[in-house]
Amino acid sequence: MTLLQIMADDDAGEVRLRTGDASVIGTELAGRGIEFDRWPAMSGLGAHIPNEDILAHYADRIAELNADGRYRHIDLARLQPDDADPQWSAKAEAARGKFLSEHRHAEDEVRFFVTGRGCFYLHLEPEVVAVVCEGGDLVSVPAGTRHWFDMGTRPDFVAVRFFEEEDGWIGDFTGDEIGARFPALDELIAA
Ligand SMILES: [Fe+2]
Repeated sequence: MTLLQIMADDDAGEVRLRTGDASVIGTELAGRGIEFDRWPAMSGLGAHIPNEDILAHYADRIAELNADGRYRHIDLARLQPDDADPQWSAKAEAARGKFLSEHRHAEDEVRFFVTGRGCFYLHLEPEVVAVVCEGGDLVSVPAGTRHWFDMGTRPDFVAVRFFEEEDGWIGDFTGDEIGARFPALDELIAA
């Protein structure tokens, strides 16, 4: 379930709002300048479905979002458990660790979750706004916004990424280990 949890940025225990109501989530995020949308979920989505088929399924929505052509690179990020691969856990841990620390980007970070789950933590002083995205959720983190991302201890997601520049995913890390003081994705959804 999509989840929004708003906390004080100096005290993760001070939870100011926790809701799974999509319309409230949209309103709260819009009030903070964060774009959030929901697209119809794609049914029958198995691990065997090629990336091209997923992108083709959402072609109209993607074209609408990119009406002005600002996103010149659109691809799929895909990380799903593979028990047949003995290296999977190590790969997953490495992938998870990449964006667990606070950073920002030179362009908007736009992600549409086709399936699975991931959490954006937006550091919007004096708050930390945690958005647990699931299949059907689109979120756009504005350029320059301090944030971090947790894909959980068992990453499982397929997400469409929209980039203006090929290296748009590169993070400018702030050096603030604030992320370590907030509940991880697994803890957030278990609460
Ligand atoms: Fe990021």
